Amino acid sequence: MPALTAKAPAKLILLGEHAVVYGYPALAVPVASRWLRATMQARIKPANSGLTVSAPQLDIECPFEALPELHPIKAAVIVTLRHLGIQRLPSANLNIQANFPFSSGLGSSASLAVAVIRVFSAFLGHSITNPELNTLAYQVETSAHGTPSGVDNSVVSYNQPIWFIKGAQPTPLQPGADFHFLIADSGIKKSTAASVGELARRHDEDSTFIDECFKKIAGLTRLGRQAFQSGEIQRFGELMNENQEQLAKLGLSCPELDRLNAAALKSGALGAKLTGGGLGGFMVALSPTAETVPFKKALIEAGAQQVIDVPVLTNPEGDSHE
Ligand code: MEV
Repeated sequence: MPALTAKAPAKLILLGEHAVVYGYPALAVPVASRWLRATMQARIKPANSGLTVSAPQLDIECPFEALPELHPIKAAVIVTLRHLGIQRLPSANLNIQANFPFSSGLGSSASLAVAVIRVFSAFLGHSITNPELNTLAYQVETSAHGTPSGVDNSVVSYNQPIWFIKGAQPTPLQPGADFHFLIADSGIKKSTAASVGELARRHDEDSTFIDECFKKIAGLTRLGRQAFQSGEIQRFGELMNENQEQLAKLGLSCPELDRLNAAALKSGALGAKLTGGGLGGFMVALSPTAETVPFKKALIEAGAQQVIDVPVLTNPEGDSHE
């Protein structure tokens, strides 16, 4: 039997992270050039040796049973088997490869869940719809993170720009102009569960200030949806900056991200902010044109480990980035 492969993109939150966990909206896009690939290869000999898992970037090379109980790979396989009403693990190898870093704000856990669920159900002979995929990936995210909003698994499952509110079906969005984003890695690894958990602890202690910031972020995100759909690039950049101000007030930025944001703005970016969980990971900047080389140079000089173009185009078929 030939190997089966499923790919899931990385994700980029443009506006609304963290507030989205509390029921406010967020706007997110897939990152086409960064993906995670899950491959299933049947093993003929020995016939009943079960499922093995290899994920070199995660230092995993073991039988399925040896994965820790709450590991997202394990959770993804279990929810898929349960969904399909299948009890027995197939005799196969599941291999995971990604071309972007884990724990950096690009939604690696959602990409992992989506790619594994997709390839596993295909391997077992079942095709899965996007809403089913999204529901299962959300279950995996919940077991791995505790209280995710669901924005990551939604944008990765649907693989298109979305408007997202927790508990509702995501709304696909069409940009009104070509947007040229860049994302830059601060090099600092940070778990989203940790930053979400820390904010929740502070919210429990005193919610007034945090709720005020969230309401402002929600207002900016709603204006951002209009600017995105009508192609007002400059306005969208201003809203990103205002969103960053609120995230910084919430204590979610850090000197390395601040340095990257400042470098992007100084070299002419229309907007710059952290993306995802914050306190490290990636930031996102908006370039006024498709010419992004000067921003890349400035970001690298300011300490970025890598810089990636993320074009969000009115006609994505014309996107030649891989
Ligand atoms: C993480 O990519 C985005 C957060 O808003 C968490 C979530 O929505 O679950 C920080």
